[in-house]
Amino acid sequence: MNDKQAVTTFHYLLHPYNTSLVTCCDTEGKSNIITIAWLIPVSVSPPLVGMSIGPSRFSYGLIRETGEFVINVAPYDIARQVLFCGRRSGREMDKFAETGLTPMEAQHVRPPVIEECVAHLECRVVQDIEAGDHQIVVGEVLAAYANHGILEENGLYRLDQVQTLFHLGRNWFTSTGAECEKISL
Ligand SMILES: Cc1cc2nc3c(=O)[nH]c(=O)nc-3n(C[C@H](O)[C@H](O)[C@H](O)COP(=O)(O)O)c2cc1C
Repeated sequence: MNDKQAVTTFHYLLHPYNTSLVTCCDTEGKSNIITIAWLIPVSVSPPLVGMSIGPSRFSYGLIRETGEFVINVAPYDIARQVLFCGRRSGREMDKFAETGLTPMEAQHVRPPVIEECVAHLECRVVQDIEAGDHQIVVGEVLAAYANHGILEENGLYRLDQVQTLFHLGRNWFTSTGAECEKISL
């Protein structure tokens, strides 16, 4: 094992991670945005996604309050706003006003969709599981849609049309290249 390097920052070994802007709101409809990298599909039927979120986040309280959130898949060109929403708290500011991101009405839930993002998953909370210093919030996907022209007919992203954002760790971001290879066994 001499050629291996032990690390304490084990989670970065699993990055780069696709990074999204998750929207939520309070019962009055006042909305907030949180940057979330730790998101995974967990079931296709029923359609479920898992989100690992720190319980101290302002957004976690809002999501518990209303049971709803929207995952907005961010393109690389809004990396600066994504970092901002991941370093500032909605307790102190209106992140829509500060970033200039545009809220649009969602189809099934109260939190808004972010216009500048390329794809959206509207979710309702079905489970909230304690896991160490984070909560795993499981959301049922009520609606999922993407910008016209960015998907192949089979639902895959067209990487020559869209570059989504990946978080390498700390303040480092990367994206998908246009190169893409289909591998057969
Ligand atoms: C690139 C990036 C990814 C992040 N991913 C997560 C995550 O997966 N889970 C989480 O709880 N916090 C994550 N954060 C931290 C929150 O976005 C951050 O604490 C935010 O300020 C909370 O906002 P709020 O208090 O308005 O909810 C991330 C931050 C950045 C910059």
